[in-house]
Amino acid sequence: MGRGNNKNGKFSAKGIFITATDTDAGKTVVTAGLARNFYKKQYSVDIIKPIATGGIPCPDAFFLSHAVDGIISPEKIAPFSLENPLAPYTILRRKKISVNIKKIFCEIKQRESLCEFFFIEGIGGILVPCLKHYSVIDFIVELQYPVLVVARAGLGTINHSLMTLFLLKSRKVNVLGFVTNCCKPYDNDESLADNALIIAELSGFDWLGNVPYIENVSDDFSELETVFEKIACKFKEKIR
Ligand SMILES: Nc1ncnc2c1ncn2[C@@H]1O[C@H](COP(=O)(O)OP(=O)(O)OP(=O)(O)O)[C@@H](O)[C@H]1O
Ligand SMILES: [Mg+2]
Repeated sequence: MGRGNNKNGKFSAKGIFITATDTDAGKTVVTAGLARNFYKKQYSVDIIKPIATGGIPCPDAFFLSHAVDGIISPEKIAPFSLENPLAPYTILRRKKISVNIKKIFCEIKQRESLCEFFFIEGIGGILVPCLKHYSVIDFIVELQYPVLVVARAGLGTINHSLMTLFLLKSRKVNVLGFVTNCCKPYDNDESLADNALIIAELSGFDWLGNVPYIENVSDDFSELETVFEKIACKFKEKIR
């Protein structure tokens, strides 16, 4: 289990890697929304941010832990955090502190058998370097989990999303689809109505839905829950 075999358009995986077109696009919000939905439906859920920077544990881990009512601790969610808010390779160049990919894989393998759904939040976008010659996409290829891409909803997303999706395709990664996310209000953004449809049309990958801008997203989960009812349904149709 845990592998992303694509059978009749379905993925038989329990592990899902959530990446994005960039940092701050909404990986944590989408991971939290999905994990909360499955957790609330009584599935046994696990979450990990295997490569994490910006604090020990990294700030995302607290939000993700909160999303599952604390059943998974921030320390367990981000067990290999580094202090500086930088790409891992930037930290390696500056301080000679390196992420231990082997150790991270051991942790993931150990935990994947213990849950029904394992959500793995990536770092930044897929070309963020973890080591000099090892980027997030290399980690994804090695892990072999199917991938969900979080894309900004507004102007500029067509370019970033297509670059991400085409690069994943070129490395033969199983892509579940993409979710657009309003990480800001996007008032007066004329592109909003068409962006996701165009990305789906030009990439051939499925659009699983849009997350609207949610004020106080980290404090009140009620709106997040409503939004993810639909997205999680589409997501679930794609797996098993
Ligand atoms: N739909 C949304 N509504 C309101 N705020 C949002 C939404 N999506 C994201 N945000 C906010 O935008 C910021 C970035 O979102 P998030 O942390 O999910 O991005 P990320 O891709 O996980 O970033 P990182 O690369 O740092 O892990 C956060 O402050 C988050 O609260
Ligand atoms: Mg995050």
